[in-house]
Amino acid sequence: MDAGLILDTLERASERCADPAPLIYRRLFELRPEFESLFVMDTDGGVRGSMLTTCFNAILGLVEESDTQRVIISSSRFAHDGYGVAQRDFDLMFVAIRDTFRDLLGAEWTPETDAAWTHLLAAIAAID
Ligand code: HEM
Repeated sequence: MDAGLILDTLERASERCADPAPLIYRRLFELRPEFESLFVMDTDGGVRGSMLTTCFNAILGLVEESDTQRVIISSSRFAHDGYGVAQRDFDLMFVAIRDTFRDLLGAEWTPETDAAWTHLLAAIAAID
């Protein structure tokens, strides 16, 4: 895992956009429009905000090779079955994050950065 490239992406993306949450969820709902209705009860965006924080912590944890975050991903994957999110669809949230950052970085998104994210997403998908 190329931790440096992932951390560099997070830093550059935050310089360009202080709150990427709306962009990330817009991308998620582009990828899977039927997921939007799962959040109708989340009128103040609180669930979406804390879900995204959990995702960022998971990314940072994997980069730091934290076992705790692996357990959190695994248990969240299982819990989301109960929210109507199939286990294989759970990873789309991380795809939406990657796509949003790629768009924010524009020309600074290099093939090496892309490879680091492909590797990270594969590592997350392998946690069951
Ligand atoms: C396409 C992927 C996903 C969808 C559609 C989705 C959907 C949802 C929904 C509908 C809820 C609210 C459930 C309820 O309160 O009844 C929720 C909560 C939550 N999700 Fe996700 N989720 C996805 C991926 C993830 C991922 C990847 C993580 C983190 C690893 C995550 C972490 C959480 C957490 C922590 C909550 C509880 C938030 C709170 O109530 O404070 N979710 N998710």
